[in-house]
Amino acid sequence: MTRPFRVAIVGAGPAGIYAADLLTKAERDFEVSIDLFERLPTPFGLVRYGVAPDHPRIKGIINALIKVLDRGDIRLFSNVDYGTDITLDDLTDRYDAVIFSTGCITDAALTIPGVDLEGSFGAADFVNWYDSHPDVAQDWPLDAERVAVIGNGNVALDVARVLAKQADDMHVTEIPDHVYEGLKSSKVTDVHVFGRRGPAQAKFTPLELRELGHVPDVDIIVYPEDFEFDDGSLEAIESSNQVKQVAKTLTDFTLREPTGAKRRLHLHFLHAPVEILGEGRVTGLRTERQELDGTGNVRGTGVVTDWEFDAVYRAVGYAGTALPQLPFDPRKGVIPNHEGRVVDTLDQAEAAGADLVPGVYATGWIKRGPVGLIGHTKGDALETIGHILGDRNAGVLAEPVFPEESAIVDLLESKGVDFVDWQGYHRVEAAEKAAGEAEGRERVKIATREGMLAAARDEARAQSVS
Ligand SMILES: Cc1cc2nc3c(=O)[nH]c(=O)nc-3n(C[C@H](O)[C@H](O)[C@H](O)COP(=O)(O)OP(=O)(O)OC[C@H]3O[C@@H](n4cnc5c(N)ncnc54)[C@H](O)[C@@H]3O)c2cc1C
Ligand SMILES: NC(=O)c1ccc[n+]([C@@H]2O[C@H](COP(=O)([O-])OP(=O)(O)OC[C@H]3O[C@@H](n4cnc5c(N)ncnc54)[C@H](OP(=O)(O)O)[C@@H]3O)[C@@H](O)[C@H]2O)c1
Repeated sequence: MTRPFRVAIVGAGPAGIYAADLLTKAERDFEVSIDLFERLPTPFGLVRYGVAPDHPRIKGIINALIKVLDRGDIRLFSNVDYGTDITLDDLTDRYDAVIFSTGCITDAALTIPGVDLEGSFGAADFVNWYDSHPDVAQDWPLDAERVAVIGNGNVALDVARVLAKQADDMHVTEIPDHVYEGLKSSKVTDVHVFGRRGPAQAKFTPLELRELGHVPDVDIIVYPEDFEFDDGSLEAIESSNQVKQVAKTLTDFTLREPTGAKRRLHLHFLHAPVEILGEGRVTGLRTERQELDGTGNVRGTGVVTDWEFDAVYRAVGYAGTALPQLPFDPRKGVIPNHEGRVVDTLDQAEAAGADLVPGVYATGWIKRGPVGLIGHTKGDALETIGHILGDRNAGVLAEPVFPEESAIVDLLESKGVDFVDWQGYHRVEAAEKAAGEAEGRERVKIATREGMLAAARDEARAQSVS
């Protein structure tokens, strides 16, 4: 093959960008040519629209991803939605291999009565609002004084911290005006986080948990009766430094005296949600007391508590969504795959023995499910890229009909898809930094699709791709 090996990557979050980076750097004796497609006007996925705005160090990972795309050997087509703007056939006709890295963008379901009441919110929706995702409404009701957050993962911590933090302490970040004004209007006094298991089973990471203890004007309150450690818990503490640190930080919180801060953040353990209470709108949450069963798992005790709340946030994990023309396992919320090779089954558990969908691969959260940090998507990418190179070298990939680099540009233009290229991203970034500079902040995010597209088009698409 004298032409470059053509690879399309759908989804420009960290998983997609790491896959592109690793493929360009992989040891090989042939040329590669990679195109990255992203439905939003900007890349970076949850690093831009998930990581909390008051975590600038983690947001800074974007700078490393920018360096990858600045090299100029990977083309970016943003504002292109797989499923409406392009199809699987469009891609397989033009590329030797197609990688899906579309992530997980919705809340996992919590199937208890009352989830649909007004005032019951999914964490993903709230995160989208405070991270100013361009496709969501700009208003968010923050009229609740007493709020429950269900879940004991880092997203629950993010949601609880953003709810408890004073708006002025968030204003130094990149949040746009509507988010600042919304947070400023918040009437919240008490945020209660509920874990269904014990302190040693919380999925918090130590740094994020310790940070809670330093939020200005917020008292952390924990309840000694929730501090149960069974054999399974002690084993987990012994075998994992992370669990040990989390358990220690939580235990240290029991020694803190309230300071009379304006807001309080309560951490409860061994309370499983049973029902969100209310008629029409949320008035409370019913939980059932749990006890550890010796292995770190829990069983119900039958003892229920009714708590008064004005709003309930459900932070019980994210979920992937099905993509057109591709198999999907609704239980796992992933594209079924064996080590990144997409397979023709609807059950990930059967992936190892299933037929391959030739030339189609997955990486990141849509490959593995919504668990793990940004850095973990590098390992995913490594495995997937290894198989792509292996399949290419084994000669099992079909020859695309239109392998020329110009073919996709022609297709998008013929369909009237108004894609944004990498230079367009730099113009969005420049506009956001200019808006920030005017207020003495590093950056202020543009909050609408129209605003982003207008910024991206600021100059004619002179150095067009291709
Ligand atoms: C609220 C939240 C906060 C987090 N904070 C941290 C943190 O502080 N530190 C940390 O290490 N990890 C954090 N994580 C985890 C981290 O975000 C993930 O590990 C990582 O983003 C997963 O990468 P991904 O590329 O698989 O998915 P994503 O980041 O979701 O990227 C997927 C991309 O695909 C695009 N896409 C989806 N569908 C289509 C389509 N049909 N066509 C085209 N493009 C499409 C999306 O727009 C998105 O840009 C957080 C996760 C959440 C949910
Ligand atoms: N700052 C950061 O580093 C950061 C920030 C945000 C997210 N992330 C990462 O992103 C990933 C996703 O985070 P996440 O918080 O969405 O998921 P997660 O870590 O899987 O946590 C989900 C939580 O929801 C609970 N849960 C699930 N179903 C429940 C139910 N029916 N009733 C009550 N509780 C239920 C789980 O409890 P059980 O354990 O009992 O199942 C768990 O405590 C994680 O890897 C996380 O570390 C990192």
